[in-house]
Amino acid sequence: MAENGLLEVPRGLDKVVVDTTSIAATDKDGWLIYRGYKATELAAKLHFEKAAYLVVYGSIPNDAKLKRFSSFLESNSSIDGATDEVIGLLPMDAKVIDGVRSVVSMLPLRQKKPDMQMLEMAAKMPRIISNCYRAKRSMKPLGCIEGNYAERFYYLLTGKEDVESARYFERLLILYMEHEFNASTFALRVTASTLADPQAAFTTALATIKGPLHGGANAEILNYMLKMKRKSEAVELVDRKLGNKEKIMGFGHRIYKTMDPRAQFIKGQLRTLSKSRKMGKLLEMAEAVEKEMWVKKGLPANLDFYAAIYMYLLGIDEAFYTPIFAAARSFGWAAHYMEQVANNKLIRPDSRYTGRTGLKL
Ligand code: ACO
Repeated sequence: MAENGLLEVPRGLDKVVVDTTSIAATDKDGWLIYRGYKATELAAKLHFEKAAYLVVYGSIPNDAKLKRFSSFLESNSSIDGATDEVIGLLPMDAKVIDGVRSVVSMLPLRQKKPDMQMLEMAAKMPRIISNCYRAKRSMKPLGCIEGNYAERFYYLLTGKEDVESARYFERLLILYMEHEFNASTFALRVTASTLADPQAAFTTALATIKGPLHGGANAEILNYMLKMKRKSEAVELVDRKLGNKEKIMGFGHRIYKTMDPRAQFIKGQLRTLSKSRKMGKLLEMAEAVEKEMWVKKGLPANLDFYAAIYMYLLGIDEAFYTPIFAAARSFGWAAHYMEQVANNKLIRPDSRYTGRTGLKL
């Protein structure tokens, strides 16, 4: 206990519980669970819409509810011409995630209720991401295709109607969807706790997910993985980076200290994917880096490490990686916005002042 009856907690709120949630948690065996179900099992067995409904509303939907939810996502997925004009005005060197943040902050919303507004923004994310990317490359926006959320999203990223790749992609989207009080969600809850509107809270989360210690990590992993030619270079890569006191993106996690179950699930998926794409070498090198990081630093690979390689094999441009994470996580954000405002308490911690006192002019 600090002076004045204040409770002093570790920096970065490490191992501090700040509130309750019934949306997600890591259970005592280290599995990430969404509303009571293992996230990896949901990824293996469900389509994105069903898992998203579960995260947002707390239970598996019946057919009628699922149909309503899926058609809401589809019918709210487009953006108007004025928004496309704004996308055209973004600086040429704007990253896709910056474009998405700017566009979402001024998006005209059709829905009136806060929970529906959160879902409307989530529904529009694939289209905004695709159009932001294409506008900066002087490419026309892609049209619409028939299909489920993952198939439509995959098409907007690659221009390909490919059900098999979209199903692989969907599993990753489900694993990216939710992770209790991670940094972007917590930031969103801080904004929601001031009773700011959903759009303000969503924009806060988008700004926070960009950082390389959070959602920005996946975009940096290929930078070093694609430079490797053989797995024997893993030792040298890890030694060099650790020797330079560099952080190796894709390793370490605030919650998972020995194993990230999402990373291991995606690694399993990568085994079949890389066989069918005849691109097994990258996975071999990745496993060598993972092994070396464990030996040298005792840090496990996190989801982003294998996700980056997975998306590369699925033919998705690196510029999309962080925005994809944000699009999937936006359904978790919707659930957290509603949970925060339903039982609100302003989030406003105190601080310990270390500056000077008693100065006089
Ligand atoms: N490479 C090298 N060293 C690392 C790494 C890493 N990736 N991660 C942690 N460490 C080291 C730290 O330098 C620190 O070492 P020290 O005790 O010698 O000073 C120790 O491990 C503890 O690390 P912290 O950063 O204090 O751990 P924290 O829980 O605060 O951070 C974080 C977790 C931010 C994810 C960290 O592991 C990291 O920066 N990783 C790289 C970025 C990354 O991959 N982010 C994606 C997260 S997963 C996701 O968002 C889906």
